[in-house]
This record gives sequence, C-alpha cells and structure tokens, in this order.
Amino acid sequence: MRKLIPWWICAEAVGDEAGITKESCVRKKHTALVVVSITILGIDTSCDETAAAVVVDGREVLSNVVASQIKVHQEYGGVVPELASRKHIEAINYIVNKSLNEAAVTFDDVDAIAVTNRPGLIGALLVGVAAAKSLAYCHNLPLLGINHIEGHIYANYMVHDTLTFPHICLTVSGGHTLLVEVHEGWKYKVLGTTQDDAAGEVYDKVAKYLGLGFPGGRIIDELAQKGNPTAIDFPRPMLRSGDYQFSFSGVKTSVRYFVEKAERAGAMENGEICIEDIAASFQAAVVDVLVAKTVHAAKTTDARTITLTGGVAANSQLRASLKDAAEEIDADVYYPPINLCTDNGAMIAGIAYEKYQQGLRDGLSLNAAANGSIVDI
Ligand code: KG4
Ligand code: ZN
Repeated sequence: MRKLIPWWICAEAVGDEAGITKESCVRKKHTALVVVSITILGIDTSCDETAAAVVVDGREVLSNVVASQIKVHQEYGGVVPELASRKHIEAINYIVNKSLNEAAVTFDDVDAIAVTNRPGLIGALLVGVAAAKSLAYCHNLPLLGINHIEGHIYANYMVHDTLTFPHICLTVSGGHTLLVEVHEGWKYKVLGTTQDDAAGEVYDKVAKYLGLGFPGGRIIDELAQKGNPTAIDFPRPMLRSGDYQFSFSGVKTSVRYFVEKAERAGAMENGEICIEDIAASFQAAVVDVLVAKTVHAAKTTDARTITLTGGVAANSQLRASLKDAAEEIDADVYYPPINLCTDNGAMIAGIAYEKYQQGLRDGLSLNAAANGSIVDI
C-alpha cells in the first residue's frame, strides 16, 4: 500500500526509514508518496485446491481461503487432471473475491498479484495464471509468476521469526520430495529429490491398496498411531545410498505385494495381520528414510536448523521423529501450522513479497509450466 503524505508530516510519519529527512521535505514542500507496506494477492491452482490469500509484507496473513476438490476426486482414488481444471474454473472468481472480502481489502489496496505458474498440473495451473493475468491487466497491477515449491519452502518463514539461514528444508507433498539448503535472499542449493514417486503420492497409493480412501496421508497417519511400526519389515530404499536422493516406489510395491498375499491367505480377515500394523510399518519405513537423509544433510552442511513443509509435513510421526533425531545433533526443527503445510495461497503471496522486493515482475506473457525445478545456486 502506498500513501500520499504531505511534506509537513511525512518526516515525522515515516522518518529515516523511508529515507526522507525533515530538511528535504521542508525544502521541497512536496507530498511524499511513501510505500508503507506491500499487500499481495496470492493465487494457487497447481493441483486440487483453489486457493487465494492476501498477505502484507510476506508474513501478515489477512486471509487464506482454500476450496478443496477432494470430494470430486475421491471416487476416482486420485486427482483427475481434467476435473481439477474444470473445478478451478468454477471456483476461482469466488475464491479470489472471498479472499479480498475476508481481508477487508479491495484491489485498490493490493500492490501486486502473485500466481503459481509452475510446477503442477498444466490445465490446473493455467486457470490460476489466466485469472491472475486478467486481474493484473484490469487493475493495472504488477504480476509475479511463482514456483509452487518455493512457496512451500517459504511457509515456515511466515510463522517463525527466529528462522535463520542457511537452513535445510525438506519439502514433502503429493507431488514433491525435495531436500534443499536455503540461503539468505531465498537462494537454494538442491541436495536431492525423489527418483520416482513423491512421499505423499506413496501414502495415497498405499491407502488405495488398503481400501482407505483418498487422500490417504492423514488416514494412514491416524491408523499408524494404533499399530506396531516393527510388525512388518518393509524396505527403506536408498537409506544407505550416501547421497540425498530418495526412492519410494519400492516400498509402495512391497506393501502392495504384502497386502495381496495377506488377502489371499485370509490373514487380514482372520485377524492375523491388522491394517494398523501395516500402516505403522509402512509409515516407519518412509519416515526413517526422510529423517535420516534430512538430519545427515544438516550434519554435513553445518546448518543447525531444519524446516519441514508440504502436505506430508502434517504427519505426526515425521514431525516427532525428525525432532528427536535433530535434537541429537543439536539442530532446531520448524514446521508450519497445517493450513500452511498443505497447498494454500498465503505461501505464494509470502514468497512473492521477497521476489517483489528483488525486482521480479512478469508481463502478461507469463505462461504455466508442468515442470519447474527451483533455481539452484
Ligand atoms: O502439499 P499438498 O497439499 O499438495 C501437493 O502439493 O501435493 O500435499 C498433499 C499430500 C497428499 O499426498 C496427502 O496424502 C499428504 O499430503 N498428507 C499427509 C498427511 N496429510 C496430508 N501425508 C502423511 N501424513 C499426513 N498427516
Ligand atoms: Zn504443494
């Protein structure tokens, strides 16, 4: 937000912070156009959530509205891209207006529009990008295209004042598993990523094999709390690979074969094997690998802070195990509240504030891209 301040009060009002001295004001007898804060409307339609938020100066969340499409995709056991795009089209105007209303602002108060333009489902991304472009054009506002993963990484910074750089960030969601070193100025060194399925994707597929519904992460998390994590010894892929790469398709297949065999033998029906133990053992395998690699990264890079983000960061076992393991190397662990872990517009508006300050502006030729790794330093 910019404010016009008359010369006789601007020095007192904004002082040295805005680089205005009383002397210069008096001399020029001007009104000062002073930027008092930057308000950004952030839009995300990268997957199955239509999200919009209004955030001031990267951290003050005035509104954060999310319309979930879960019910639409549930009957198919996963996100159907074409349906996702259609639902975004139906919801986008309403959700943007709702985010402005809840924030009690109008477009006159907004300084820039930020939109996730990569990576994600291309048809879904295009809806957000088209909406953001139209709004930026109509209201003559700058437009910023944002990488969805950078939004997830930024989420912790929005709520933890004490977060320092460099830190190690583990992003785990339905579409991504990424370990990065985060440096001052929002520069990243990518340490490793998944070679096949993302962590959340595996949770969702295992939930499907177990007939638990979609999305499966939270359901498995809850069941696992009642099960024995050592009941079944599922593989820990790439645990000792000596690098920061991940692979989860092997554990997924192991669970599938295990469940099929148990069903054939009637072991599930007769109570010999319970679903809670399968959930807990599967979860232990995934969490063990994620925690070991993340803590190893913190140890070897001397970063004493770890952040966890993305939908799977909501996982209770992952949070607890990472905290315990980090304590052993004297590192702090931060994670955002659940509404900032899963997809949302606030994290997009948040990182956009940093990019805005760095001078990023995209024109109306901004396009969407299904892929888009973060820029490595
Ligand atoms: O970040 P997100 O909302 O969307 C993507 O960018 O993908 O993440 C969604 C993923 C889903 O795979 C969901 O099953 C998983 O996060 N998830 C969880 C939990 N809550 C959500 N996975 C494990 N434990 C949870 N408590
Ligand atoms: Zn996400």
